[in-house]
Amino acid sequence: MSTIQAGIAARVPAHGRYLSLALRPDADAAVRTTLQALAAEVDGLHTVVGLGATLVARLDAAVPGLRSFSAPPASRVDLPATPAELWLWLRSEDDPGALLQRSRALARLLAPAFDVTHELAAFRHQDGRDLTGYEDGTENPTGRDMVDTIGVQGQGPGLDGGSFVAVQQWEHALERFDRFDRPTQDRMIGRRRDDNVELDDAPPSAHVQRTAQESFSPEAFVVRRSMPWIEGARCGLHFTAFATGFDAFEAQLARMAGVEDGVVDDLFRFSQPVSGAYYWCPPVQAGRLDLRRLFQNQGHPPA
Ligand code: HEM
Repeated sequence: MSTIQAGIAARVPAHGRYLSLALRPDADAAVRTTLQALAAEVDGLHTVVGLGATLVARLDAAVPGLRSFSAPPASRVDLPATPAELWLWLRSEDDPGALLQRSRALARLLAPAFDVTHELAAFRHQDGRDLTGYEDGTENPTGRDMVDTIGVQGQGPGLDGGSFVAVQQWEHALERFDRFDRPTQDRMIGRRRDDNVELDDAPPSAHVQRTAQESFSPEAFVVRRSMPWIEGARCGLHFTAFATGFDAFEAQLARMAGVEDGVVDDLFRFSQPVSGAYYWCPPVQAGRLDLRRLFQNQGHPPA
């Protein structure tokens, strides 16, 4: 039986490393064998893998619901689209150095068909906080609700247990955030930083007012597994939202971007996305990535 890549369901790890990869122009013959080699190497727990719409199309395959990210029409803010063919999330509880070594080994393994185009180290801050100090992930579905939110079911072998991820690297201007006093900061997020209690009187521009999952019709639930990042003096949040499709994320993002009512999320007062992409995270079977959906026109890859 195929299951969700376990790293998606698990709590955010102490250390992470994200890689985006592009297909090499001369990759044709090597794409399939390289993906098979990746599938044999990846367990879905220590490394989570996502495939972009252009890669799936290139293999003459189809994954219902997979598409490329683009900013919602009428967005009042800049939402860059930075698609890649392959996305890797390396996870570790103990050692960012080990993640660097694993990312180098995976880059070598993928080199016949893919070039690494972006790489970012990330980490868990305190007990799972954004670098502003606010707890992140509180309203994530848990237990059975979490599994139902992230794992596709009822679509058949090769698709069931798959998931979809929306990825956005946000860059913070913390000095700008620091200029607001604490009550203002709390109102911008919609929760009190000190005890994480949701504010009754938060303005419509507060982040949790914009994104309240039960306020959408239909309800828009996602499972967020975002990780803070630092590069020199730059920092921010590497946002990831997993679900059985992209509709929930798109509804939230459109509202954050002021599409519905002209009100832009207060997050944009001190942070902005510098990337944006969508990926399909295939299921795992017997401890390896289940890529049969990609290869069914060409026979199943050898075990
Ligand atoms: C700079 C980037 C972001 C930061 C710092 C951030 C931070 C937070 C914080 C502190 C919370 C409250 C606690 C919680 O429930 O997790 C929250 C909630 C939430 N955020 Fe974000 N977030 C960011 C970007 C996004 C984006 C891009 C989306 C989706 C498009 C999003 C969707 C949500 C959702 C769905 C909730 C829960 C709302 C609810 O149901 O109450 N966030 N975020």
